[in-house]
Amino acid sequence: MEMSLQEEQIVTETAELVHEKLGSDRSGHDYQHIQRVVTMAKVIATNEADANKIDFFVVNMAAYLHDMADDKLNDDVKTAQERVREWLDQKHVPAGKQADILDIIQHMSFSDNLEHHYLLSLEGQIVQDADRLDAIGAVGIGRAFYYGGHHGDPIYDPEIKPRMHMTKEMYRSQSTVINHFQEKLLKLVDQLNTPTAKQIGAHRQKYMQDFLKEFKNEWEGNC
Ligand code: ADP
Ligand code: NI
Repeated sequence: MEMSLQEEQIVTETAELVHEKLGSDRSGHDYQHIQRVVTMAKVIATNEADANKIDFFVVNMAAYLHDMADDKLNDDVKTAQERVREWLDQKHVPAGKQADILDIIQHMSFSDNLEHHYLLSLEGQIVQDADRLDAIGAVGIGRAFYYGGHHGDPIYDPEIKPRMHMTKEMYRSQSTVINHFQEKLLKLVDQLNTPTAKQIGAHRQKYMQDFLKEFKNEWEGNC
């Protein structure tokens, strides 16, 4: 379902709002991350066999807003969610679409799905795929080291073992960047929802595996 002119206008204004809030973020959720997720969500949505059944307005809005009420960026998630709802109200987004957008942004994050598995709408699955794809491949590698530096984690320490069974609580505790590949990044490919994202994910997975092989070889002086 293509967007109406009015919906396009709301998306543009929402992009401006998000830019204001996340433009200066340096923890890996900057506005450029949002833009990549929006771009990739559109690529996936357009490519899906049932593209005509997809609500592009909901995909765009959820992609732009997906980090606005996240626990990493807000001390009080409930208030942040309420602010998003008020924004949608102010823009006269119909109640049904508001509910669809809010459901996606509340339930799509990796950490929220560690302990329960939320069943998302098709639009939600697409935005979740786009967000997960941005955590893997070349951009994902870059983001992981950036995050590690920001949080003071070591790049690698052979003494610190990866934690294979991760809980939400553990997820925010200290690790090493290389462990993060085992703890999260290499698992994401099996959690992608759509055929389009799975295909893109397979290429990015191989790229990360090659990177890790090179990294370990260099670390051990085997080059
Ligand atoms: P989300 O919940 O939206 O996936 P995160 O805050 O978990 O967002 O991740 C933001 C970026 O930082 C991602 O690219 C992720 O892989 C990376 N990241 C998260 N935790 C770590 C960590 N412990 N070490 C390295 N990178 C991390
Ligand atoms: Ni994100």
